[in-house]
Amino acid sequence: MATRPAEGLLARMTLRKTVEQIQRETQASELKRTLSAANLVFLGIGCIIGAGIFVRTGNAAALHAGPAVLISFVVAGVICGLAGLCYAELSSTLPVSGSAYTYSYTTIGEFAAWVMGALLLLEYGLAASVVAVGWSGYVVSLLRDYGIIIPIELTGPSGHAIMQNGAAVLGANGAPLTYLFNLPAFLICALLGALLVVGVSESAKVNNAIVVVKMGVIIAFILIVGWFVIQNFGTLKANWDPFIPPPSGEKGEFGWSGIMRAASIVFFAYIGFEAVSTAGQEAKNPARDMPIGIIGSLIVCTVIYMLVSVTMTLIVNYKLLNVPDPVAVAVDALGPQWSWFAKIIKIGAIVGLTSVVLVLMYGQTRIFYTMARDGLLPRVFATVHPRFKTPWVNTILVAMIVAAAAGFFDINTLGDMTSVGTLAAFGIVCLTVVWLRRTHPDLPRGFRVPLYPVLPILGILFCFGLIFSIETRVLMFFLWYSIGAIVLYFVYGMHNSRLYKGLDEIEGKDMGEYVAPVGEQP
Ligand code: ALA
Repeated sequence: MATRPAEGLLARMTLRKTVEQIQRETQASELKRTLSAANLVFLGIGCIIGAGIFVRTGNAAALHAGPAVLISFVVAGVICGLAGLCYAELSSTLPVSGSAYTYSYTTIGEFAAWVMGALLLLEYGLAASVVAVGWSGYVVSLLRDYGIIIPIELTGPSGHAIMQNGAAVLGANGAPLTYLFNLPAFLICALLGALLVVGVSESAKVNNAIVVVKMGVIIAFILIVGWFVIQNFGTLKANWDPFIPPPSGEKGEFGWSGIMRAASIVFFAYIGFEAVSTAGQEAKNPARDMPIGIIGSLIVCTVIYMLVSVTMTLIVNYKLLNVPDPVAVAVDALGPQWSWFAKIIKIGAIVGLTSVVLVLMYGQTRIFYTMARDGLLPRVFATVHPRFKTPWVNTILVAMIVAAAAGFFDINTLGDMTSVGTLAAFGIVCLTVVWLRRTHPDLPRGFRVPLYPVLPILGILFCFGLIFSIETRVLMFFLWYSIGAIVLYFVYGMHNSRLYKGLDEIEGKDMGEYVAPVGEQP
């Protein structure tokens, strides 16, 4: 089909896919409606609980909020709740399986979809690196318990000083030692990438089993440590004095600015709930079950996170929690007779984190795949392996990026980059709800955000507002990243868009056989 004549730039950037077009694209993947509300809550929890609670809570408490990290969890939970309601409305209105990328393409238009694709690379790709670094921390610690020592230089981010018990480790010449590379984090990404190439991904059953393991260790932690805390509350309550440590004078270090800074950190712990919205085509009764799945999993996780942070900051002083395995450190405080429980926690964390890395990497490959089918990325990202039926080149590239980031960078920088990208993506999702209500007021909506337009507008304000509590150097990265992405759209995406060229989606014969687009359950 011939390319359409150039139109005004704005018209060009807001070129939209129609709902019918997207429905046609997803017809090939007509999925069975088998998921109940409970399955959806499990699906959400499977993606949500990971490095956020197992690792980043420690950093947020030790360096930014102290015991008041509890308030940070509530703030981040409320913001995710607002975004969650918007996801629920979109998923019940646009009958497509897909991600925020597809929602943007259908409502605001191509430019917004492109920007969303760039943000999702931070939300999925970099988040996978963060979780892999968290995984590495627990693996190194567990192996150490069994006398297996990985050379310390190979267990952390390149160039960062090696710290032990709060002090820099010095080399033979008296100079501080630095890490070379995080080898375990790199290896787990490479291994999971290889599994994704050959088509191994989680089934609903495996997901359920892993959720049970993750929830099991966390609930055991809450009960056992909580019981110990209640028994010894008289002495342990000193760890909550003061509950909000006074501000140090630096922005984001304790006081209320620290609580907000910690909220942007623990926000990471909630990422993943939107995976529920991608299962819209498989829900038995999407109008009722999607909101239950999204909001239900968020509520369950918020309660768990609050209980974990209460027990963790009472059992040990928050200053001791800036370690790769803070949950295990909290258990160590129970005494040496509980060392078996610390090991179980570590094993549970490792199992849980492995599945989160897998799901996030899977999601990233399917986003690239969908974008390539739309012509916004080179065709090679949609090339399907003849035997494994997976987008293999794309998967190898994603695995290489995720593994390199996990190997070289520190978890806090990576985590902040993920938070900033995800907050922006959620802000756009809230905006999309307002946009769609104005442009398509009559579309049937299975679920409507209550108190419209107040809640979506609060969602937009809170998501973009929390971005500003993130460290300035990460915000600068984000600024340059966004500029780079926008330039790429004008240089590449805009000229290769199949929608613009008047071509429909790439048919199977072009790209090999069908593989599930982003969001479909493996
Ligand atoms: N919420 C997920 C985690 O904490 C990404 O690992």
